[in-house]
Amino acid sequence: MVINETTSAPEPICYINGTRYVLPDGRGEATLLQFLREIGLTGTKLGCGEGGCGACTVMLSHWEDGHVVHRSANACLCPLYAVEGMQVVTVEGLGNVRDGLHPVQQRLAVMHGSQCGFCTPGFVMSMYSLLRSCETPPSEEDIEDALGGNLCRCTGYRPILDAFKTFAKTDPAAYTEEAIAASKGIANGSATSATTTNGASSGVCPSSCLPCDCAAAKATTNGGATTNGCGTAVATTNGCGAANCCKKARAGGGCDVAPAASRPTSEPIFPPELKTRPAFHLAVSGRNVTWHRPATLEQLLDLKSAHPAAKIVVGNTEVGIEMKFKNASYPVMIAPTHVKEMNQIAVTETGVEIGAAVTLTRMMKAFKGLIATRPRHQVSALEAVVNQLRWFAGNQIRNVSALGGNIVTGSPISDLNPLWMAARTTFVALGKDTGERAVPASEFFVGYRQVDLRPHEILFKIVLPFTRPNEYVKEFKQSPRREDDIAIVNAGMRVKLAPGASEGVWVVEEAAVAFGGVAPRAIMAPALAAALVGRAWDQDTLQAALAAVRQDVVLVDHAPGGKVEYRRALAASFVFKFFVHAALQLEADTAAAYQANLPTEEHSAAKAYERHPAHGVQFYSKPEAPPTPATVSVVGQPHPHMAAELQVSGEATYTDDIKLTQDALVAALVTSAKPHARITKLDATAALQMPGVVGFYSAKDVPGSNAIGPVWYDEEVFATSEVTAVGQVVGVVVGTTEAAARAGARAVEVGYEDLPAVMSIEEAIEAGAFYDDYTGKLECGDVDGAWTQCDHVITGTYKVGGQEHFYLEPNNCVVIPHENDEFTLYSSTQAPAKHQKYVASVLGIPAHKVVSKTKRLGGGFGGKETRGIFLHCAAAVPSYHLKRPVRLCLDRDEDMQMTGQRHAFLATYKVGFSADGRVLAAELDLYNNAGNSHDLSHSIMDRALLHSDCVYKVPNMRVRGHMCRTNQASNTAFRGFGGPQGLMFAEMWIEQIAKTLGKPDVEIRTLNMYDEGDVTHFGQVLEHCRARACWQTVLSSSSFWERKAQVAEFNKANRWRKRGLAATPTKFGISFTTKFLNQAGALVHVYLDGTVLVTHGGVEMGQGLHTKMAQVAAQALNVPLSKVFISETSTDKVPNASPTAASASSDMYGGAVLDACRQLSERLAPYRTKLPNGTWKEVVNAAYLDRVDLSAHGFYSTPDITGFGGRRPFNYFCFGAAVSEVEIDVLTGDMQVLRSDLVMDVGNPLNPAIDIGQVEGGFVQGMGWLVLEELMWGDKQHPWIRPGHLFTKGPGTYKIPSVNDIPVDFRVQLLANAPNVRAIHSSKAVGEPPFHLGASVFFALKEAVYAAREAAGVRGYFVLDAPATPERLRLLCSDQIVQPYVPYDVRPKISC
Ligand SMILES: Cc1cc2nc3c(=O)[nH]c(=O)nc-3n(C[C@H](O)[C@H](O)[C@H](O)COP(=O)(O)OP(=O)(O)OC[C@H]3O[C@@H](n4cnc5c(N)ncnc54)[C@H](O)[C@@H]3O)c2cc1C
Ligand code: FES
Ligand code: FES
Repeated sequence: MVINETTSAPEPICYINGTRYVLPDGRGEATLLQFLREIGLTGTKLGCGEGGCGACTVMLSHWEDGHVVHRSANACLCPLYAVEGMQVVTVEGLGNVRDGLHPVQQRLAVMHGSQCGFCTPGFVMSMYSLLRSCETPPSEEDIEDALGGNLCRCTGYRPILDAFKTFAKTDPAAYTEEAIAASKGIANGSATSATTTNGASSGVCPSSCLPCDCAAAKATTNGGATTNGCGTAVATTNGCGAANCCKKARAGGGCDVAPAASRPTSEPIFPPELKTRPAFHLAVSGRNVTWHRPATLEQLLDLKSAHPAAKIVVGNTEVGIEMKFKNASYPVMIAPTHVKEMNQIAVTETGVEIGAAVTLTRMMKAFKGLIATRPRHQVSALEAVVNQLRWFAGNQIRNVSALGGNIVTGSPISDLNPLWMAARTTFVALGKDTGERAVPASEFFVGYRQVDLRPHEILFKIVLPFTRPNEYVKEFKQSPRREDDIAIVNAGMRVKLAPGASEGVWVVEEAAVAFGGVAPRAIMAPALAAALVGRAWDQDTLQAALAAVRQDVVLVDHAPGGKVEYRRALAASFVFKFFVHAALQLEADTAAAYQANLPTEEHSAAKAYERHPAHGVQFYSKPEAPPTPATVSVVGQPHPHMAAELQVSGEATYTDDIKLTQDALVAALVTSAKPHARITKLDATAALQMPGVVGFYSAKDVPGSNAIGPVWYDEEVFATSEVTAVGQVVGVVVGTTEAAARAGARAVEVGYEDLPAVMSIEEAIEAGAFYDDYTGKLECGDVDGAWTQCDHVITGTYKVGGQEHFYLEPNNCVVIPHENDEFTLYSSTQAPAKHQKYVASVLGIPAHKVVSKTKRLGGGFGGKETRGIFLHCAAAVPSYHLKRPVRLCLDRDEDMQMTGQRHAFLATYKVGFSADGRVLAAELDLYNNAGNSHDLSHSIMDRALLHSDCVYKVPNMRVRGHMCRTNQASNTAFRGFGGPQGLMFAEMWIEQIAKTLGKPDVEIRTLNMYDEGDVTHFGQVLEHCRARACWQTVLSSSSFWERKAQVAEFNKANRWRKRGLAATPTKFGISFTTKFLNQAGALVHVYLDGTVLVTHGGVEMGQGLHTKMAQVAAQALNVPLSKVFISETSTDKVPNASPTAASASSDMYGGAVLDACRQLSERLAPYRTKLPNGTWKEVVNAAYLDRVDLSAHGFYSTPDITGFGGRRPFNYFCFGAAVSEVEIDVLTGDMQVLRSDLVMDVGNPLNPAIDIGQVEGGFVQGMGWLVLEELMWGDKQHPWIRPGHLFTKGPGTYKIPSVNDIPVDFRVQLLANAPNVRAIHSSKAVGEPPFHLGASVFFALKEAVYAAREAAGVRGYFVLDAPATPERLRLLCSDQIVQPYVPYDVRPKISC
């Protein structure tokens, strides 16, 4: 019910893509995303629900001070009622495949910027919002900034950036509402519909939407020598390639992709109705929440006085998280967004006053304006705030969240609060009847998330004084990832300096330092301030300050958040940086009346972070010419992903987008809260009484078998008596809505009796907790006899942590029952056949009654090979009993907690080598953290053992595997399947050999590298070995040795910034090592209109498998690609398919498709002969009339392989090599990748654009694993985390690479002239092999740390466990700042 106080108050409305909606009552808890998806706009995706991935990005537009304001926002955190009076534009509002794509969508599609497509609508909307909102042409930096809040797990971002950088505007006037309306031939303000044809067919550039003649540009064929499918000479194309293209002046400009025939049709106009609406008090009541949006300050104060417990909400970026993840409930919410006084920014003589509801974006813009116009000495604090905001969340968050929200949350890691505290800011509280109350920022934070605000008060405004001459304010922040991440430690520091008694001496008049991230609240540092005030700004004072900071920043060993030594060291590093910064500033400001007297190499301590926009180049060889002029040339061409246009327009359907009938139910899982316990109670009484809850099901309700497991049946659908991991499924609740089901699941009571838990490999070794059935071992030569021949022997342990798949689409499934116990399953799985098999078994029905379908996945990477099966089984049980469809979709945190990750590994090693560095013997024991069941850990360990040689010949080698049984959710397949762990350990000992001998790593790697005909430690002869070809190519194309010298020069000149350069090779074996899995089927139908439908057993998850298969079919049948379609993967078309995994799908399904097409071609050959001039359709019809079967089943099994244990487990090997250069900030561990050169042997690619996408995406994912991504579990190393719980279970805490993390200069080359005789069309697999190239970044970082240690006088080898996070890098730099906190050989804590 709308409870507006004035009867004349307008009804609550919003516009969505030009359509007017009256907002429903009683939805105070609903988000915009929920509403959009309910009304069928499923293009906007749910990736995380916490504002961290950008998949849900939409554009919000509102009328403000006579103009329209556009901004991107996360629909998952945006309250539905917050968009009252606004226009919402979703991806569907831009364009679609039928009517024409918007240029933003089109450019992304043709430039290969969409693989799985789940992130794609979010990227489209971020870019579109930028174009609509910026007043000046966006630079490439602006574009990268705008994408900082969007994550992509597939592409490695480069193609997305290339596509969007074509949009840098040159004429902002073309983007005004008037100009857009004029382009449609409608008067501004008169349009109400969003769909009028854009008259852009001539004169408007499809890439920039600006005046240009490129629409007339002639399409030229693709297939240039070096391209990303859109470029000609180099891939960093801009513009469209027309002679007078608006981008023609840009280097490398030009694009030979033809603009789509039908181009954008929609550019949503801001609805005129929204321009004239008066501000009014909106009040909507509901069962759980009443939502108020007062129009005046008086109304706001009245409301707060009447409801002291009410939540003030602006961006909802804190409150929304509390409601979703902490189940907080706020019956009254008040949005001050329309209260004028709360949204003002006023400049006074002495400073600036900012209303508490001002958004961070607005504040940043206003501050930038002041910085440009005020005297320099006044703006030091403003600059610090602007600098800090650059690294504060992503654009979407900054666009909606308010300054007041950040302050009042009182978070100990707020990025701004330490700055306010240091910069003499005053916070003004306001209450009805009590008026304004000014509180110094330094006294406002009173406890963990507690502030000095009385219940009836609101935070009204913030008063920030201008700085005075020789007063310096500086911001500091270090986070695990630079872009869109919360701080580990941050700080605000201020000093006011004045001339002292003697010449050249300047003393500290005032000092204030505040830290975040070192206590339960942001704190002042009184000892530090006292150590500074009254003292000269010199080295002695610095030393006193470094000593004092140790008194202020005290953290107990197991303080929440961990990283205790790092946090303390960071605080000291910031002090040091501030000292150098202020000294250099003062020197400049006083025209050297003060002299910093700092050697130039010390200046690097204060050097600001600088990153240039990323760019890339891709090289591949031109595909072979077709055999005859009449043969279509499809294979080898860089065709865009077949579904790219559907993905960029949001029309691509994922499992959770499937529309179900009205009676469908939603399921929510009841899961274990303990890592190991006996179940003592399971009571759903309370849950079953809750509104909307329909049923609860557990083990006793399973009609068939409760035992499941992909290989071993050692898991249960529902735990019966014992739980062995947090997140293990105990039961399932179904309800009429997701909210009801989730509330019901929370209400189910589970009782536990704790049992001892094992959480890490080391604990498992100690407890002897192994899966004893695993006895994998590989051996060659005479290991025991070889040690005596070795000049050196090294021993020790290495550790590499696990990795979350972080596919953007969480695991989800749908079960639809039919007559007579038939079921249709839809799921986001890489293994539909397994879902069919296990659901049939669990329901006790035959497999032929269960059809399992998958259209596409929003990413899989191995994480959807087996771990989604138990979800489907759990959802199938209520569907069976109730005979109603059931949908189950995991939230991101559930998915991360319960579906397993890449295995963490530990290796013990003994490696012997000669004086010149030749490896003579190696003995390794590999331990993986298998988790609470076998899952695929067996085969994963097999593959790790098989890759323990990397590309190095080891004449005497013994490798044993051990599977550790722990109380983590079962770990599972992940791109590389254990191979990367084996490869990484080999690179670790090779590097240790080099350091032991004092030789360059590259020399040792080259010396030991395999040659043609060498035999691996498992007995396979290397044929067509291209290890050295890739290696030499990359060393030469990257100018490795010249750059090595340049790096050394740089390091000499910079004490506190160090660079590192490293080269690493790779080799990856292709085939399932379980032999029977190497088989594949396909079904090809030819219809009478000449179209071809291909179905095969593989799943499309972004890797372009369907596109490649369609290319194979088109070429085999000699028809254009457009004739071929692949709809879905389905067990009733191709039975018993192996999971889409092991990178072998193109090889195997390509073989099967080819087999089917050959049969069809043979059948059609007589009719082709009979009708030499007949069209394909005529040939097909002639055959049909002759009663020829136009459908064929194809089959392929990989020949001549043995599986694990034999001498030929692999059909062939892929090779590659990479060189990476990095720079680190020694004082913080901050890092960036300056350049990476990759060379990958992918045979003759079936589709070079797709293969380049796999190489780039694989590299970035591999780099993420080894550098950024850290899983933290509640184990002995992290006692501050609840036992067995995963702390890093969302994008807020678990950091995959963002757009800012990719190499600034990113060069990819597919090795030329490298046909593969053992796979289809001489191609090679590409999904997993490039993953390990990310190791080059790890070793480059290590090189940089060596340089830092050398500068500190610490020499020799050191252990660096993976991932090489800023924490590890910083602590190992071993300089005088960090030495008081850790020893030089520290091994920071790791969950392993
Ligand atoms: C993905 C993501 C990334 C983030 N990154 C960062 C980051 O890098 N650095 C950082 O510091 N923070 C970060 N945050 C935290 C958050 O965005 C900020 O704290 C934000 O400024 C909160 O503003 P809001 O308007 O959304 O607050 P809301 O959620 O609307 O409100 C937050 C709290 O403040 C109270 N409140 C708001 N305004 C007032 C007022 N005027 N008077 C009294 N109480 C008030 C509310 O009642 C509530 O308790 C991030 C959050 C997310 C979701
Ligand atoms: S779903 Fe909204 S940001 Fe991830
Ligand atoms: S294409 Fe970006 S997540 Fe898959």
